[in-house]
Amino acid sequence: MSTIQTAAPALDLTYVRSQFPSLSQTVNGHPAAFLDGPGGTQVPQRVIDAISNYLSHDNANTGGAYSTSRHTDAMIARARGAMADFLHCGADEVVFGPNMTTLTFAMSRAIGRELKPGDEILVTRLDHDANVSPWLAMAEDRGVTVRWAEIHDEDCTLNLADLTAKINKNTKLVAVGYASNAVGTINPVKEIVQLAHKAGALAYIDAVHYGPHGLIDVTALDCDFLACSTYKFFGPHMGVLYGKREHLKRIRPYKVRPNTNAIPNCWEWGTLNHESIAGIEACVEYIADLGRRSTECGDSRLGCPPSEARPQPSRRAAIEAAYAAIHAHERGLLVRMMNGLKKIPRMTIYGITDPARFDDRCPTFAVRIEGHTPLELATKLGDRGFFTWDGNYYALNLTEHLDVEKSGGFLRIGLVHYNTADEVDRLLAALREIVVET
Ligand SMILES: Cc1ncc(COP(=O)(O)O)c(C=O)c1O
Repeated sequence: MSTIQTAAPALDLTYVRSQFPSLSQTVNGHPAAFLDGPGGTQVPQRVIDAISNYLSHDNANTGGAYSTSRHTDAMIARARGAMADFLHCGADEVVFGPNMTTLTFAMSRAIGRELKPGDEILVTRLDHDANVSPWLAMAEDRGVTVRWAEIHDEDCTLNLADLTAKINKNTKLVAVGYASNAVGTINPVKEIVQLAHKAGALAYIDAVHYGPHGLIDVTALDCDFLACSTYKFFGPHMGVLYGKREHLKRIRPYKVRPNTNAIPNCWEWGTLNHESIAGIEACVEYIADLGRRSTECGDSRLGCPPSEARPQPSRRAAIEAAYAAIHAHERGLLVRMMNGLKKIPRMTIYGITDPARFDDRCPTFAVRIEGHTPLELATKLGDRGFFTWDGNYYALNLTEHLDVEKSGGFLRIGLVHYNTADEVDRLLAALREIVVET
């Protein structure tokens, strides 16, 4: 096992894009540009193959005394191991579920069993509602007080002073997003985890939006829980919850009696979506391969053929290298898109726009153009082959707070590592054309 040097590797986009069959589609004669990653990313062929192969050969329930059931048990164990490498935790700390929202509702109910009136929890104005509503519902049932961390309206960043002031000795849980799925802000979650722990509170991180953009390391973060969704980082429609071993063991899940009491299975109820889980290992391997390829090439170019002679890095090290390459490519796209958006007339860009602070944001853009509703813009762009979103994307507290909810929310343009500079330029040209047309 060896580690990988992550000095500014570059991404071979030809290789990357060749992995994703859906990217070659056209719409009305225009090449499709998938700028809808924040709503769900495309999947590489190997994920499609893994799902299809599972259904073709191993489709069975778990725990049976026959081959396909045993293969299913082994496949789930491999997927758990892959997610453990992805998140940097133990495989027994990885819980599978239908999606992040369902997992968070389930965990919030269980955590609520330990809380009482007078206890407090903290949620933020910036978060997706999946990391807000489950906590509000639990608080209502348990008589727990909810506090809200506010934002700096001018750049849509968390107001850390406000957040700090609202954590006290009664705080039992801080729920915060790693990155905003609306405006792209990356929150200082490590610092927030430390603030929570200083007060004796748990930290529950929503990493759904961060997952495709940045390396997640739950060990380094020292968070108590972290939820993500594989369909946001090139995998199948599934949710994954990391829970610290001690918490998964101590907190009492709501579950059926025949279900085992061993973690993590005691947190997984009924039959899981096995075919999707089959796609998870393939999705993590896709990401790891980006990293492996970068080290196999002396010049750090991804896409070189594998070399038998070179030592293979650990999967975790390969994932780290992959995210270094992803980050470098996404940064180029972020700068290009921001420069172009700033030149479009009557445009308002929400979130961080200062290039000096780009480390604190993802290439996810929430914009409005005076005289056009976000839906109208998304529709016109959609007709030209650009897949963008309009509305609130469930970041409801943010759109209400910024008073854009009643007028259609934002137009969201989301870039991930398979997007290209050419797509950015074409999107900017299309936006300019739409603005000038009217
Ligand atoms: C930041 C964020 N959190 C949570 C969710 C909900 O995830 P899921 O669809 O897996 O429940 C989303 C989905 O868009 C999201 O973007």
